[in-house]
Amino acid sequence: MSKKHTIYRCQNCGYISYKWLGKCPACGEWNTFVEEREEVVHPSRLVNKEQNKILPINEVDIKDEERIPTGYSEFDRVLGGGVVPGSLILLGGSPGIGKSTLLLQTANYISTYEGKVLYISGEESQNQIKRRANRIGTYSNNLYLFSETNINFIREAILNISPQVAIIDSIQTLYSPELESAPGSVAQVRECANILMIIAKNYNISIFIIGHITKSGNIAGPKALEHIVDTVLYFEGESYYSYRILRAIKNRFGSTNEIGVFEMRGDGLEEVKDPSSIFLSGKPEELSGSIIVASIEGTRPILLEVQALVSYTNFSTPRRMSIGFDLNRLLLISAVLEKKLDIPLNNYDIYVNIVGGLKVSDPALDLGVAVAIASSYHDVPIHSKTLVIGELGLTGEVRSVQGIEKRIKEAEKLGYEQIIIPYYNLTEDLSKNSKIIGVETLKEVFRLMSLE
Ligand code: TYD
Ligand code: MG
Repeated sequence: MSKKHTIYRCQNCGYISYKWLGKCPACGEWNTFVEEREEVVHPSRLVNKEQNKILPINEVDIKDEERIPTGYSEFDRVLGGGVVPGSLILLGGSPGIGKSTLLLQTANYISTYEGKVLYISGEESQNQIKRRANRIGTYSNNLYLFSETNINFIREAILNISPQVAIIDSIQTLYSPELESAPGSVAQVRECANILMIIAKNYNISIFIIGHITKSGNIAGPKALEHIVDTVLYFEGESYYSYRILRAIKNRFGSTNEIGVFEMRGDGLEEVKDPSSIFLSGKPEELSGSIIVASIEGTRPILLEVQALVSYTNFSTPRRMSIGFDLNRLLLISAVLEKKLDIPLNNYDIYVNIVGGLKVSDPALDLGVAVAIASSYHDVPIHSKTLVIGELGLTGEVRSVQGIEKRIKEAEKLGYEQIIIPYYNLTEDLSKNSKIIGVETLKEVFRLMSLE
């Protein structure tokens, strides 16, 4: 059933070699090979034979897609409508962001309303978990705690309790005694994840795995984990804000562009159902360099404030800095402003910030960034009930964006009266509740806003 090899594995990317190498041929990292004795257990041997019949596609029975609610509509939406029974879900994030808190609260909800939950922690004792739990609320007797790091004992515990959902906190602390490498190494992480996958599939138990993010931003054992699991979620946020964003990177059971917004409070995480009003709170009135834009994250529109600061510099290479917005797009926009609108930005530093700590890649924000920069440069404030939407082309043209109706609806909901959109998005059936202006070029926008 199993063979033993001595292998050398790159700790960065998981590449296997049968002799030691200084440099990994796959990822190019130096000194990453570690000797391992790996016991290769082929997963298919452990899977119930019944499930492996060959079938014509039309005869495959689809089990009805029953989902387990997590208690948070934000979390459910990111998962594609709740937890799929028997799925393996990886939750990654940097330390202290709130992964344990999120899953403990979810465990609380599921154990109260749906069925048994087993929370396995390799990082904290039962005592510590209980103490954290006390900050959050009261708990049902269906929530079981287990502090263990040996995957064999964990497997036994899961089969014993046979919960509906199991939570592993975290995968980096688990080890299989059959392998000699240290917990957290690629081999251990992969082996333990494989065993958990087999348990999830064979016994129809949904398993959440918490994974820490390495310095380079990957979940440790980078590629090793992401392809094993069904769903990869990232929990992110700036530590100096209390807002947290839950994002799906991979999802076999739903779309991957949805985000969920949470707020860390003194008594745990609270979901934020109306993120626009939060990201806009504290917006300065009638100050230059600030404008509201309508972005779409997944299927949901979110209004955001874009701020820019343009300041004179004596250095020959001016600085370009951006928080939450793609730096390359900022460079492109400042080049367009310089070339097409004759703003001499090569003598100015430019700083751009998306307020609230959200990272956005929606091109419809381009126009907002351009307007914020011009507003700061001319020191002309933008009317506070004005909102801009549009992608910017290299010739200074305003290009159409997707989801215009949703963006306008959200803007109107929050009381914006003048909405500037791409001319090509202007259609008959757009809302008539606000003044909607279609523009073809950036020049037109600037004329409208007296930014010349
Ligand atoms: P935690 O869930 O332990 O993070 P992770 O598992 O991702 O490492 O959360 C850690 C932070 O959250 C910690 O700095 C304290 C803070 N926190 C609150 O602000 N309120 C709370 O109710 C809880 C439980 C934690
Ligand atoms: Mg934790």
